[in-house]
Amino acid sequence: MSKESSFTQRVLSGVQPTGGLHIGNYLGAIKNFVPLQKDYESLFCVVDLHAITVWQDPKELITKKREVAAAFIASGIDPKKSLIFNQSDVPEHTQLSWVLNCVARMGWLNRMTQFKDKAGKNKENVSVGLYTYPILMASDILIYKATHVPVGEDQKQHLELARDIVLKFNNDFEKELFPMPEPIIMEKAARIMSLRDGSKKMSKSDISEYSRIMLTDSNDEIEKKIKKAKTDAKPIPDSLKELELMLEAKNLITIYAAFENISFDLIHKRYGGKNFSELKKDLIGTVIDKIEPIREEMIKLTDDQKYLDSILESGSIKARNIAKEVLNEVYDVTGLSN
Ligand code: TYM
Repeated sequence: MSKESSFTQRVLSGVQPTGGLHIGNYLGAIKNFVPLQKDYESLFCVVDLHAITVWQDPKELITKKREVAAAFIASGIDPKKSLIFNQSDVPEHTQLSWVLNCVARMGWLNRMTQFKDKAGKNKENVSVGLYTYPILMASDILIYKATHVPVGEDQKQHLELARDIVLKFNNDFEKELFPMPEPIIMEKAARIMSLRDGSKKMSKSDISEYSRIMLTDSNDEIEKKIKKAKTDAKPIPDSLKELELMLEAKNLITIYAAFENISFDLIHKRYGGKNFSELKKDLIGTVIDKIEPIREEMIKLTDDQKYLDSILESGSIKARNIAKEVLNEVYDVTGLSN
């Protein structure tokens, strides 16, 4: 019997309520949450404490939190099956975070590439929270003893850090208290790239709005953004080797394949040798087909604040019941309880 099997199989993931959600968030993460709730006890968290590691307008933050909850539900997460809640409503995340701060090593954090990318040359001036961000992320996972964590590829290194923390914690306190969390990364859409630059990840912080398609974009905006997406003057190559070098074209095919749930190769075969305009025309149809119902449902849900708040509240009460027990165990083994 594997060590893991003694733990409840549980999924946890988090999404930041910053700057709205784009199709990278959807295809790389949220879409994949949906089938998991059938087989796992699942928790989906709006990570507002992570959001404030960079400046957030307080009024906007409240709205954005509801928007993420609405996106979860509109994408197919069933609040009757899964828990949807705000991170800050479960204070045990931050309580565990302190303990894990004392387990993780400086050297481990110093290796985090996302911090280096985000801080850039401004390292002395970013918040301390941005630096310790991956420890809070480990707490989000471990406070529920989650066994599986669906994320996009950009979170892989943070997951590795969480795994290092588990090893050291269990070893230091001589108890298999935490399961080893397994990342679930959907290869098909693990890294959706910018529509303007195929070497850059699609991101909320990109200055060009044309770099990303938002879940709240109108059909006209979707059409405009795909039409403007960077491509080459020559047709789509038949050879995969040649296509590999055309980053923007490869990204459009990846997006198409992920939305249609079919293989990259099949889409490539269908459009190899054809002009980009043909691919773009069909892609516009597909993206609108998939995004329109989500957007419309998000609008309905965000209009019903009471409903969303009630989902978030009941989610946090249930999440807290699990989190309190795990924190008690942590306090017991570390000598923090009386
Ligand atoms: P965040 O809010 O930046 O992104 C939410 C999810 O979307 C994925 N993602 C992408 N996937 C593919 N292509 C892209 N261009 C793209 N951009 C974003 C992310 O990988 C993520 O899965 N640190 C996390 C939030 C977090 C979390 C956690 C995740 C906090 N605690 C615990 C899992 C478990 C973040 O900033 O995601």
